Amino acid sequence: MTRRMKILFVCLGNICRSPIAEGLFRHHLTLNGISHHAHDSCGTGGWHHGEAPDHRIVSTAARLGVDISDLRARKLKPEDFEDFDLMLGMDRQNVRDIEAVRPKNSTTEVALYLDYALGQNKDVPDPYYGGARDFETVFKLCDEASQALSVKL
Ligand code: 4NP
Repeated sequence: MTRRMKILFVCLGNICRSPIAEGLFRHHLTLNGISHHAHDSCGTGGWHHGEAPDHRIVSTAARLGVDISDLRARKLKPEDFEDFDLMLGMDRQNVRDIEAVRPKNSTTEVALYLDYALGQNKDVPDPYYGGARDFETVFKLCDEASQALSVKL
């Protein structure tokens, strides 16, 4: 399949889960020699606008050979529904918050990330107030899901 897809990865702050989901999607696209999809990530909240991803997820990723230090946070905006074919929320609350911004007439598909990628109807847990192990769990979940997504789309 070579249909070009534009995919937006969405979490709350856009500094932990959605940047690692996007960064790993980019990583696996490169490993698989796939270059025709476009991608970005954002948060339903705008507190971290312009910031790099949280240093804990940057270092977890770097230790496992993936660089996401170039990504910058931004907030979800209604125009994103014109630009993206698929929005993937990291948890169910993200999915509800995305739907709350959806303009009338938008046909963009919105889904739960782990459900869409792996058929697992569960959230990527928010690691922001957690410890190193929580960041590793997020990395592993996103690595498996974004790998699957890179070959599925
Ligand atoms: P994320 O994690 O949604 O995975 O980026 C969070 C980052 C920041 C905050 C909450 C969650 N915050 O409240 O600032």
